[in-house]
Amino acid sequence: MMLSFLTIVLLSSSWVASADNNNHEGFLQCLPLHSDGSAAISKLIHTPINSSYTSVLQSTIQNLRFNTTATPKPIVVVTPQNASHIQAAIICAQKHDLQIRIRSGGHDYEGLSYVARDPFVVLDMINLREVTVDVETSTAWVQSGATLGELYYKIGNASRTLAFPAGLCPTVGVGGHFSGGGYGGLMRKYGLAADNVIDAQLVDVKGRILDRASMGEDLFWAIRGGGGNTFGVVVSWKINLVKVPPTVTVFSVPRALEQNATKLIHRWQYIGSKLPEDLLVAVFVRRANLTREGNLKTVLATFNSLFLGDAEKLLELMQESFPELGLVKEDCRELSWIEFAVFFSGYPPNSSFDVLLNRTLLVRRSFKAKSDYVREPMPEVAWQGMWEKFFRVNDTEAPRFIMTPYGGKMDQIPESQIPFPHRAGVLFKIHYLIYWDGEENDVAQRSISLIRGLYSYLTPYVSKNPREAYVNYRDLDLGTNNQGNTSYRQARVWGAKYFKNNFDRLVHVKTAADPSNFFRTEQSIPPFMSW
Ligand SMILES: Cc1cc2nc3c(=O)[nH]c(=O)nc-3n(C[C@H](O)[C@H](O)[C@H](O)COP(=O)(O)OP(=O)(O)OC[C@H]3O[C@@H](n4cnc5c(N)ncnc54)[C@H](O)[C@@H]3O)c2cc1C
Ligand SMILES: *[C@@H]1O[C@H](CO)[C@@H](O)[C@H](O)[C@H]1NC(C)=O
Ligand SMILES: *[C@@H]1O[C@H](CO)[C@@H](O)[C@H](O)[C@H]1NC(C)=O
Ligand SMILES: *[C@@H]1O[C@H](CO)[C@@H](O)[C@H](O)[C@H]1NC(C)=O
Ligand SMILES: *[C@@H]1O[C@H](CO)[C@@H](O)[C@H](O)[C@H]1NC(C)=O
Ligand SMILES: *[C@@H]1O[C@H](CO)[C@@H](O)[C@H](O)[C@H]1NC(C)=O
Ligand SMILES: *[C@@H]1O[C@H](CO)[C@@H](O)[C@H](O)[C@H]1NC(C)=O
Ligand SMILES: *[C@@H]1O[C@H](CO)[C@@H](O)[C@H](O)[C@H]1NC(C)=O
Ligand SMILES: *[C@@H]1O[C@H](CO)[C@@H](O)[C@H](O)[C@H]1NC(C)=O
Ligand SMILES: *[C@@H]1O[C@H](CO)[C@@H](O)[C@H](O)[C@H]1NC(C)=O
Ligand SMILES: *[C@@H]1O[C@H](CO)[C@@H](O)[C@H](O)[C@H]1NC(C)=O
Repeated sequence: MMLSFLTIVLLSSSWVASADNNNHEGFLQCLPLHSDGSAAISKLIHTPINSSYTSVLQSTIQNLRFNTTATPKPIVVVTPQNASHIQAAIICAQKHDLQIRIRSGGHDYEGLSYVARDPFVVLDMINLREVTVDVETSTAWVQSGATLGELYYKIGNASRTLAFPAGLCPTVGVGGHFSGGGYGGLMRKYGLAADNVIDAQLVDVKGRILDRASMGEDLFWAIRGGGGNTFGVVVSWKINLVKVPPTVTVFSVPRALEQNATKLIHRWQYIGSKLPEDLLVAVFVRRANLTREGNLKTVLATFNSLFLGDAEKLLELMQESFPELGLVKEDCRELSWIEFAVFFSGYPPNSSFDVLLNRTLLVRRSFKAKSDYVREPMPEVAWQGMWEKFFRVNDTEAPRFIMTPYGGKMDQIPESQIPFPHRAGVLFKIHYLIYWDGEENDVAQRSISLIRGLYSYLTPYVSKNPREAYVNYRDLDLGTNNQGNTSYRQARVWGAKYFKNNFDRLVHVKTAADPSNFFRTEQSIPPFMSW
């Protein structure tokens, strides 16, 4: 059955000679709409004349910066139900000279999964989100269109002591997340989502359906962290589930400047990556009002933690390693791991697990983000200078920082094991975020330049040569490809930041897998061309 659609595509049309290359009518006619199964498949094609076009397209635009009238739109959105539909879309898009943008959860920070400058098709994986958990072998197959929430829900329903080390936000798509690494509360114990992928199903540029054995270890290496929309369409992933105790403990402890926040952050830099791997303490920093009237400004550092054990043991550990925080029993909350997943999703902590299945972000706004890795503790004056910058801006433009400690398992995995290279020696990662509302250009410009200013301010204190960045926090400020004609040197500017020395191997794999650079974005690994 799977093969038959492809066969129809290949046989029914003149594959080589296409009179009108840039013809989206041609693309639609090329899709096997009019052969067997036709009625069903036509329901998976959304062009601007269909009322479904707008709702499907907008459904997972997670950054409203790319939900404007000026944002380029696809000529068609295809929502495949199985691999054969993906094969057809890939073959027909090449034939009619259209780009493909693959979208799973739509969280790409720069909108690359649904925005392109050249005529393009969005391949939206929304209908491919099956999760099959095998408790016996502690593994699961998860399709790319599933969200992390759907994955956690299924695992939680199957076992209270199995989990998966991926991100905290339940609406994030498995497809993009695993393609760029993927981290969350279990990172210090089990590494990244991509570290725990053991097989995958991929449709390549020729429309072949490959698994780990047939794609080979190079390509299998590359798709686990080398960035999405580069090597093909990942249909599903086989993952190793990990063990968690029946009870985990969380805390969320805010400290304002007046409560020694700066000293605590300073100290945390030395401790966070050295704590036992069962314990992760992250710091969220934002400006806040000290009083309800808003007349006294401060900075609030909130220490958020997940501990794989009970509260008593956690208090003991914290007393030993970070007494300055002054953690008390009342700060701690014991939960199951799946309750933790709900707790950090932004929903009330006692919400039904069903909220994990909700694919709509709680709050959708416009945002810009950046990332940095820190390998040496920053001096206190650096933080104080940062707060001064926080105070100089408007309330509505308040930027925030999320700082995640590394160490533990992250230190033990070699830099070249998968493309994600930020391993031993990283103390923590800084995630810069700034949100705003509305389409007004001056607000957007002010916010973006503000966050660029903070990034520039931190230059002396963060990793250098290269200044490392996390590919899942996509940032086009780091450099972009010149579509269709990208030199190695040009791509290496951003590529080394995301992948360090793994960039070269990614280029080799790309050259073998997709020499014509069909799967491409402003920041995808280019093949060797004329350089
Ligand atoms: C609110 C929010 C919370 C987040 N929290 C975390 C977190 O806790 N931890 C973390 O590590 N990251 C986090 N991220 C970042 C997130 O991991 C990345 O944005 C990730 O790439 C999103 O995947 P997606 O499928 O939702 O996004 P998409 O926009 O659909 O895809 C991202 C990229 O992957 C490509 N792609 C998508 N599906 C496929 C596929 N099936 N095959 C090949 N390529 C594909 C896309 O073309 C695009 O280039 C968060 C992002 C947001 C917006
Ligand atoms: C793919 O989907 C089509 C229509 O939705 C269906 O007819 C076909 O049987 C499916 N093929 C496979 C292999 O599941
Ligand atoms: C879009 O419109 C075409 C033409 O009327 C129709 O065949 C197709 O089924 C529609 N798609 C959807 C998703 O309804
Ligand atoms: C995206 O833009 C459209 C059109 O302006 C609007 O109707 C829709 O509500 C916007 N989406 C969100 C989540 O705000
Ligand atoms: C949860 O597990 C039960 C029992 O194993 C099963 O009957 C049910 O269908 C599962 N629910 C979901 C949503 O998977
Ligand atoms: C701040 O630190 C000082 C000593 O460094 C200590 O005396 C004081 O109690 C701390 N304040 C708070 C609110 O913890
Ligand atoms: C601080 O207070 C002012 C005035 O009440 C209010 O407008 C602003 O939104 C508050 N800021 C934050 C971050 O709470
Ligand atoms: C959930 O929490 C709210 C307040 O935090 C409380 O009022 C409510 O009773 C709780 N519901 C359940 C089912 O525990
Ligand atoms: C899903 O979440 C969104 C955003 O919070 C909310 O508006 C919507 O009602 C929720 N849907 C369901 C089915 O609960
Ligand atoms: C604060 O906002 C106002 C209006 O939105 C704007 O005019 C002003 O320039 C902003 N101030 C700064 C420091 O950006
Ligand atoms: C690629 O770039 C080179 C040098 O910048 C230029 O000479 C060449 O014409 C470009 N080729 C295409 C196809 O744009």
